[in-house]
Amino acid sequence: MSSGAIETGATQIEVRQLSKVYPNGLRALDNVNVDIKKGEFVAIIGSSGAGKSTFIRSINRLVQPTSGTIKINGEIVTGNDLRHLRRDVAMIFQQFNLVKRLTVLRNVLMGRLGYKNGLGLIYPIFNSKDVDLALASLQRLGIAEKAYIRADQLSGGQQQRVAIARALTQEPSIMLADEPVASLDPETSIVVLDILKRINREDGITTVVNLHQLDLAKEYADRVIGFKGGKLVFEGTPDQVTREVYEKVYR
Ligand SMILES: Nc1ncnc2c1ncn2[C@@H]1O[C@H](COP(=O)(O)OP(=O)(O)O)[C@@H](O)[C@H]1O
Ligand SMILES: [Mg+2]
Repeated sequence: MSSGAIETGATQIEVRQLSKVYPNGLRALDNVNVDIKKGEFVAIIGSSGAGKSTFIRSINRLVQPTSGTIKINGEIVTGNDLRHLRRDVAMIFQQFNLVKRLTVLRNVLMGRLGYKNGLGLIYPIFNSKDVDLALASLQRLGIAEKAYIRADQLSGGQQQRVAIARALTQEPSIMLADEPVASLDPETSIVVLDILKRINREDGITTVVNLHQLDLAKEYADRVIGFKGGKLVFEGTPDQVTREVYEKVYR
């Protein structure tokens, strides 16, 4: 699953007949078929409970699908592939998921864990390449001066930038973000989405973002995918998101 093996515009994430039924019987995803191309910026829209998080979490196996397949770079993602997957697919969360009592740099270095083996996973030893990558990521996110500060000393927007720096330090080919701006104020939301877009454009990292705000989805995405009741009910460009589409997805 090397990112270099696949050209911009080729299918990078191929989802076929994907369904997820939770143990309580709730069908959160219902026969979803979709292709996401290398380098695309895709926004997933839909009301609360539509299945957006379940979909995004199925891609990196935080959720185990009930049936169907997901191929990444042409390879079916199976239980055995998790190590590759953990390197290749980075994830950004609504609540940032930083280790609060660790420094910013230490948090960003966590992005390198997928490259460690055995004992290195338990007592990770970060080499100078790891540290250089982490510092370069912080530099790019404009928060290098916070490297030695505890993560919980930062504002929400700064914490999300640390989380993005951690994701970048992972050197992923795919970036997933589950409501990355839902806990941020409107101005900070724009800053964070601008950063995700810039990384998408500059590095060609395929980006899939769950966004419940339709206006932001239309502004940032190359393509919008709409979920309702676990079904994919819309797929198209931001321009194609008409009033009718809005009604279909949100009503
Ligand atoms: N672990 C779980 N167990 C049971 N039901 C769940 C679980 N996680 C999510 N659900 C349900 O699955 C549906 C889709 O949830 P989710 O993917 O979180 O939607 P969204 O992110 O669009 O709000 C919802 O009805 C939700 O309550
Ligand atoms: Mg969600």
